Amino acid sequence: MSRSVRLVPAAAALLALALTVTACDGGVHGAPGGSGVRDPYFPKAGNGGYDVGHYALTLDYTPAARHLTGTAVITARATRNLTAFDLDLAGLDVDSVTVEGQDARWSRTGQELTVRPHDDLSEGETFSTTVRYSGTPRTLTDPDGAEEGWLPTADGALGLGEPVGSMAWFPGNHHPSDKATYDITVTVPKDLQAVSNGELTSRSTKGGRATYAWHMAQPMASYVATVAVGHFRITHGTGTHGLPVLSAVDPDQAEASEDVLAKISEIIDWGETNFGPYPFSSTGVIVDRPEDAEYALETQSRPVFPGAPDTSTLVHELAHQWYGDSVTPTSWRDMWLNEGFATYAEWLWQEDHGGKSVQQKFTELYEGDHEEIWAFPPAKPSSAAHISDSPVYERGAMVLHKIRQKVGDDTFYTIIQGWAAAHRHGSASTADFTAYVEKTAPGKDFTGIWKDWLYGDGKPARP
Ligand code: TRP
Ligand code: ZN
Repeated sequence: MSRSVRLVPAAAALLALALTVTACDGGVHGAPGGSGVRDPYFPKAGNGGYDVGHYALTLDYTPAARHLTGTAVITARATRNLTAFDLDLAGLDVDSVTVEGQDARWSRTGQELTVRPHDDLSEGETFSTTVRYSGTPRTLTDPDGAEEGWLPTADGALGLGEPVGSMAWFPGNHHPSDKATYDITVTVPKDLQAVSNGELTSRSTKGGRATYAWHMAQPMASYVATVAVGHFRITHGTGTHGLPVLSAVDPDQAEASEDVLAKISEIIDWGETNFGPYPFSSTGVIVDRPEDAEYALETQSRPVFPGAPDTSTLVHELAHQWYGDSVTPTSWRDMWLNEGFATYAEWLWQEDHGGKSVQQKFTELYEGDHEEIWAFPPAKPSSAAHISDSPVYERGAMVLHKIRQKVGDDTFYTIIQGWAAAHRHGSASTADFTAYVEKTAPGKDFTGIWKDWLYGDGKPARP
């Protein structure tokens, strides 16, 4: 499915307008919430007018039938008076919607599920919405051609959500600027397991089915929520300060994964030394084999790998826990704050473990024949199809190295740790970052780095 199919047709926009007019004629206060948060790359992602605090998702999945039944209880606060609001949901059938326990009217257009509560919502009010839904969840194709959403595996399925795939398996405010805590409870046939983010709070079986309840206590962007259903080898360990380490590995990949996964705690410790305190209350990995995707993803507290990872990829996804999952971009334009940092972390790991220095890596990329790195500036990807290209990853990391060259190692580590601390469990933009750097190294002039390396077209000239 192409992205354009998900855009709201003009007719739907007119209908929405008609509803607005009707609402005003009725003398009600408030207006519908927006059907997007004006993300420059994914304009329909997320919704206006409310802020989610918690998702309680209760899912039941049968792989043989590819059938999902879900109940999403979404607790949110109205940020203005609302007569209606949208949730994002792609595919699936909506069976019912209630708001504050009362039946609500709802309609669907593309990915927008528009809910009209029985009573208007007032600015500041906390309200609970329950959506019951079912069907076969979709695999979505991103503008760059990658598959995300709900991905079948040989023995189950895997939910992956960057940038917008989580709307294929639960309704929500699917934009990184609205983070929330989660309870994700999954029931599967009892010979299978279900793994998600955070800590396993209970496991029970009843009549041939097993239920796994997972709790994510720290705020999470929906694109890093995950569920993996299948056969897994689950290991429990404990890292430094008693940090629980729970990994779920596809049995086919268990042997190949063993050595690299033994390094998780060491990488977390190294991360704490360099980036500051680990932001979540557990860690681990999921190694699974989706049929149509071959990328790793920094799903919160428990990144997903499409097979046994190498050390560099493990370092990358664990570094994202600080940069991306804890400090989350406020829009998809700010992706380099995720990928530039995670790539830089791979380089730092090499430097700290007897490999080439970051300076060497920088010089190789700068001197070498790598036209793709200069295709566009890291802070202004050319389109949604390019948010995971080399300028975001490598050139993003090179921006960080330019800062390190300018301020020296001590201040550089103060900056990257302080940045993780200042926006811990929050969201931040490129402008927040440049302001933070300037404030932390007040005697230095970063104008040229921002202008040429971060925002400038083409390959920056040698200084
Ligand atoms: N964020 C992933 C990583 O660790 C890569 C990725 C997966 C991605 N899906 C994406 C990047 C969608 C951008 C858009 O590098
Ligand atoms: Zn990454």
